[in-house]
Amino acid sequence: MKVLVTGGAGYIGSHTTELLIDRGYEVVVFDNLYTGHVEAVNPKATFVKGDLLDKSAVDALFDAHKFDGILHFASHTLVGESMEKPWLYLRDNAVAGSNLLEAAARQGVKRFILSSTANLFDDPARIPITAEERIVPGSPYGESKYIIERYLHWMERIYGMAYCCLRYFNASGAHPGGHIGEDHTPEFHLIPIILQVALGQREKLTIFGDDYPTPDGTCIRDYIHVIDLAEAHILALEALADGKSRKYNLGNGKGYSIREVVNMAREITGHDIPAAAGARRPGDPATLIADSTRIQQELGWAPEFGSLRQIIETAWNWHKSHPKGYATGK
Ligand SMILES: NC(=O)c1ccc[n+]([C@@H]2O[C@H](COP(=O)([O-])OP(=O)(O)OC[C@H]3O[C@@H](n4cnc5c(N)ncnc54)[C@H](O)[C@@H]3O)[C@@H](O)[C@H]2O)c1
Repeated sequence: MKVLVTGGAGYIGSHTTELLIDRGYEVVVFDNLYTGHVEAVNPKATFVKGDLLDKSAVDALFDAHKFDGILHFASHTLVGESMEKPWLYLRDNAVAGSNLLEAAARQGVKRFILSSTANLFDDPARIPITAEERIVPGSPYGESKYIIERYLHWMERIYGMAYCCLRYFNASGAHPGGHIGEDHTPEFHLIPIILQVALGQREKLTIFGDDYPTPDGTCIRDYIHVIDLAEAHILALEALADGKSRKYNLGNGKGYSIREVVNMAREITGHDIPAAAGARRPGDPATLIADSTRIQQELGWAPEFGSLRQIIETAWNWHKSHPKGYATGK
């Protein structure tokens, strides 16, 4: 099977590419390297540098390859940035998605997987958050994912394209082999920031609020290991062979507070990781935990790297051996 991975030079896309190659898929990665790294792409994949906003580049990609399935990771990805630069999201993410879907529909691609987000659920009635929860995008970023989810609804109706929306919670960890991992500049994700403190690259961690209604006052989040995420993509790709579209929430089902994450990182790195509480960040809910029952029951997905220890150990392994990320040239 030949699959297209957009954003395959990025964090989650590169790990998924790795697993796809291991399972014998032929992979074409299409990425503009806006935040991605060519070194992250498995050399057995075909790498095409290009921008989804460039319609002629997308058409050329589909002229050169016939795809059996598409995994769409490429996106602007930051909630906070989307509140300051909404058009990068409401326009660019949406146009990138529509250029891709138009070419895919024209070619008759029948399987499509979208990297969607927990940011669809800004006002959950219940925690853990099930796939049935009411959709209330929390930012232009979340809205841009919802726009593509709606495009997919029509792709299925009109072109018979089966799709799977995977609404991930906090992706974390790194490949157990230690050769690929998370490298975002600037970094906005908690675990890499904590590990940058352990590496001496930052003085301390600022915790955004320690007066939330949680046992230790800091926010609770659901961290899912990037390999478990990658595995879910492969299960979904295979399941779409039955032509039925699906939507799944994808997390560990366990929540960890910021203080718990810091304490585990202290234990693993042996560094005291200074942390100080600062002001709350507007819009941060106290607790976000996924209910992934639906994907567990329907596809038999189960986290293999479900413990916080495994998540931080694999991330530390990557950061320790690549303190400057891919800039080491490794
Ligand atoms: N990291 C998380 O915790 C998380 C959580 C929920 C959803 N997601 C979603 O998962 C996907 C991957 O996230 P990530 O953390 O790996 O991000 P990332 O920034 O590491 O990867 C995104 C990749 O897409 C590429 N890209 C961006 N715009 C492009 C364009 N117009 N044309 C071609 N390539 C383009 C980038 O260069 C990069 O390689 C995103 O869609 C993101 O919204 C991530």
